[in-house]
Amino acid sequence: MKNTIIAGLAIVAVVGVGTALYLNGSTRADDAGDNQIRAAEASAPDPAAIQRGAYVAVQGDCAACHTKPGGQAFAGGYGLQTPFGVINSTNITPDTDTGIGSWTERDFMRAVRHGKRKDGQLLYPAMPYNAYVNMSDGDLHDLWAYLRSLAPVKQAPEPNTLGFPYNIRLAMLGWNLLFFKNAGYVAAPKQSAQWNRGRYLVDGAGHCAACHTAKNALGGDTSAYLQGADLLGGHAPEITNDPHLGLGHWSGEQIQQYLKVGSNHQAVAAGAMGEAVEHSTQYLNDADLASIALYLKSLPGSGTQAPAALSANSPVMQRGAHVYETHCMACHNVQGEGINGMVPAFADNPGMRASSGAGLISAVLKGGRAAATEGNVTAAGMPSFGWKLNDGDIAAVLTYVRNSWGNAAPGVSAQQVAKARAALEVGPVMAGPG
Ligand code: HEC
Ligand code: HEC
Ligand code: HEC
Repeated sequence: MKNTIIAGLAIVAVVGVGTALYLNGSTRADDAGDNQIRAAEASAPDPAAIQRGAYVAVQGDCAACHTKPGGQAFAGGYGLQTPFGVINSTNITPDTDTGIGSWTERDFMRAVRHGKRKDGQLLYPAMPYNAYVNMSDGDLHDLWAYLRSLAPVKQAPEPNTLGFPYNIRLAMLGWNLLFFKNAGYVAAPKQSAQWNRGRYLVDGAGHCAACHTAKNALGGDTSAYLQGADLLGGHAPEITNDPHLGLGHWSGEQIQQYLKVGSNHQAVAAGAMGEAVEHSTQYLNDADLASIALYLKSLPGSGTQAPAALSANSPVMQRGAHVYETHCMACHNVQGEGINGMVPAFADNPGMRASSGAGLISAVLKGGRAAATEGNVTAAGMPSFGWKLNDGDIAAVLTYVRNSWGNAAPGVSAQQVAKARAALEVGPVMAGPG
């Protein structure tokens, strides 16, 4: 509670300073190439640009956020849960009244790369413009051509439920000043074209850091780049080449396979990543996936030291082993080896060792569903155990898998599980029949 209030004050306090600096700050190409853009707009739609733009939309996963469940693509209304309240996405079809039909290409570029709406109001960073700022003029031009080619959908945006001071868009001036680097992608000349393509996709359209980089109290990125972050009810693991918590033991091909089909020899994508795979990464071409893998493998990462594994003889490990054999072994297998392409392996899996264990607690309490992709249509389910196992049993079994078969990680406590149970609104254990 206290943290939230202090955070709120801080964001208001910087507004004054922000105004002057931000308004004087330069904006790039979006303001420069105006004549060129107008000339291009006057001409007929370019089918090649539209086709390239459809692929850029996939890279940016625009449809995932701008489509409400069961709704029409790109017409908005999807509610994003943030620590500050619910932010609804907007209609980005070319409808004149409720979408972006009256916008110019320049208005569009400014919104996507600088977080500024047509009317000059600032967007909330739930729209990941701090990543999209890296996207090139060419890619944005194609994306614009694609969105213009869609049928307009009439659907008014829904109001947001942010509390003070986050309901004041002006506060975002302060946020931008603190956390928004208003500069496009700068290629690293010493690195290969493939490496640069990988970083361009990861930091730009792919906005991987939005989930995989930990945030500070105001929602800005910390310097622990791609080193893992707790999400609301989950955890996005470290995806650098770190051997203990990251992808150090995965080959480039294994990373590619995960992004393409949603599973590999060890892991199965579910939750937020399952959605990213279903809507976006499965459709990336092999060259782009290889570039992403190459780039991630080049990052040294957190350098986290593996702790000593807990002794298999300790009471909590024995209790965990018992729960495992009764409830988990049928699917996750005798030695935690899982079932290839269906059920994640626990054995020597860095995803099991993240410091907080938040993602694992959430998986056991609520269950989940693997990504369904063209390359793997199975979409196996993880049953929820929140109604079946008490907090102590869940803590014990997770402590056990985090310290068995080559893993070593801090234990999970019953208090952590109790907190997650309340936060995720999972009910209490129910008495079984008889
Ligand atoms: C993680 C979710 C997310 C993704 C991914 C995303 N958006 Fe958004 N976008 C939002 C939200 C939320 C808003 C509204 C923010 C606000 O109200 O301040 C928004 C606003 C916008 C706006 C401003 C529209 C208006 O009427 O003010 C545009 C344009 C836009 N997004 C385009 C895109 C494009 C193009 C992509 C893909 C490259 C994309 N968005 C991807 C969440 C997302
Ligand atoms: C909306 C949030 C979100 C975005 C955006 C996102 N990820 Fe993830 N990612 C996750 C979560 C959550 C997991 C854990 C999924 C699980 O265990 O089922 C994950 C898991 C992964 C893993 C597997 C790691 C492991 O140890 O099992 C890889 C690799 C990965 N993401 C790469 C990426 C890349 C590359 C991008 C950008 C193109 C990206 N992610 C964008 C949330 C996200
Ligand atoms: C019916 C088969 C089945 C049973 C039984 C089962 N699981 Fe799972 N589990 C899965 C599948 C499939 C997934 C992948 C989908 C997902 O993550 O939601 C999974 C995922 C998980 C994850 C998330 C892994 C990650 O990468 O984030 C954890 C943690 C987990 N299971 C723990 C357990 C525990 C602990 C038990 C026993 C109490 C158990 N599971 C029982 C099938 C099962």
